[in-house]
Amino acid sequence: MTIDRKSLINWVGGKRLLRKVIEPLIPTDIKSYIEPFGGGAWVLFYKEKWADLEVYNDLDGRLVNLFRIVKYHPNAFKEEIKYLLGSREMFLQFLNGTFITDIQKAVQFYFLITRSFGGRGETFGTVKRSCGGASKSQKNVLEKIDAIHNRLDKVMVENRDFEKLITQYDFEDAFFYCDPPYSKGCGYEVTSTANFDHERLREVLGNIKGRFLLSYDDSPKIRELYKGFEMVEVERLNGINNRQGTNRENKMFKELLIANYPIKDLFENGK
Ligand SMILES: C[S@@+](CC[C@H](N)C(=O)[O-])C[C@H]1O[C@@H](n2cnc3c(N)ncnc32)[C@H](O)[C@@H]1O
Repeated sequence: MTIDRKSLINWVGGKRLLRKVIEPLIPTDIKSYIEPFGGGAWVLFYKEKWADLEVYNDLDGRLVNLFRIVKYHPNAFKEEIKYLLGSREMFLQFLNGTFITDIQKAVQFYFLITRSFGGRGETFGTVKRSCGGASKSQKNVLEKIDAIHNRLDKVMVENRDFEKLITQYDFEDAFFYCDPPYSKGCGYEVTSTANFDHERLREVLGNIKGRFLLSYDDSPKIRELYKGFEMVEVERLNGINNRQGTNRENKMFKELLIANYPIKDLFENGK
């Protein structure tokens, strides 16, 4: 079964809209593919296989539990998901309930993320008109779980801070696709915008033996921090503002792709 190039969840900062631009920049002569800031893993899932060894990592244990349950207990997960309704009442029950087992916790997290506004898991999400939304069909959801389960078969799922993970998996033929929290913008459960240590990441990436590709918001701080590395600028639609009635300028968001290997030509050829 193919994965239809989708992820299981829309995650804040997810690279759904940039994966087509990122793909041609990823070298093909790599022995391992590692995502230290996995989130919804849109880039990982974009291809059937990037390398012989693939690693998904995120510091947020809720994401890691979800992917581990889909990897190891897809049927139990699907059995629970089957009976869930897209209802406000059920959303509030999940928001306020206590869940004991890892399977229950994965279902709770999945339900709150997929049924909330902007994928933040906080308020019940509704739309005035459909923008496709076919993934909300129960049949599609169950098929997607099977596809992600198959895709994760040989993927290691880790739950570590980026520094330990990068150091552990680094070697000459390793490749790291890094999508850290932005220098400006909304934070995450595990690190707020204010306390993510961008300098520490720069230090770690500056010392690795392998190759990295990094995506960031285009800000003077990041340009200064990565001065001397190859950079390309890209624009993407801002997911949450991507609504009718928002003008195009407000909808666009500038990002940088930064690497410790040549990417400018790959980027131009991939356009
Ligand atoms: C921009 S998101 C990644 C989005 C992902 N590329 C996608 O397509 O959905 C950044 C992720 O970094 C994680 N994170 C924050 N601090 C971290 C840390 N110190 N180590 C590892 N992961 C961290 C957050 O939990 C969040 O999921």
